[in-house]
Amino acid sequence: MGPSGSGKSTLLNVIGMLDGFNEGEYRFLDESVQQLKEKQRTNLYKQHIGFVFQAYHLIDELTVYENIETPLLYQNVKGSERKAMVADILDRFNIVAKKDLFPAQLSGGQQHW
Ligand SMILES: Nc1ncnc2c1ncn2[C@@H]1O[C@H](COP(=O)(O)OP(=O)(O)O)[C@@H](O)[C@H]1O
Ligand SMILES: [Mg+2]
Repeated sequence: MGPSGSGKSTLLNVIGMLDGFNEGEYRFLDESVQQLKEKQRTNLYKQHIGFVFQAYHLIDELTVYENIETPLLYQNVKGSERKAMVADILDRFNIVAKKDLFPAQLSGGQQHW
């Protein structure tokens, strides 16, 4: 928490490894993040960090099902396990019937879930 301009977004972008920084050290799971190569940092990021953006950043060209599935593809979760995880999420958020719709066909609240 902090007033506008105090650095909240900047800090979150650094923690989320979306932005770099000039001074200091950032250790994540015993790794010194600023010393990692881009590729290693990307691996760490996609395995452990998730971001819920204020502007939803759903992928317009993908269906609800595919939007949920995308981070699991990046994490190399296998087909059957992936299907089960997506089905579970759809079920939990009561949007099974919406799975083949595109983001533009959802209400704001449904996009946020
Ligand atoms: N640790 C920091 N050192 C130097 N500049 C910073 C630091 N954190 C934020 N800033 C700068 O301060 C400004 C406001 O930061 P921002 O993260 O957008 O604040 P907030 O999200 O809290 O409103 C930006 O120009 C950002 O680059
Ligand atoms: Mg901000």
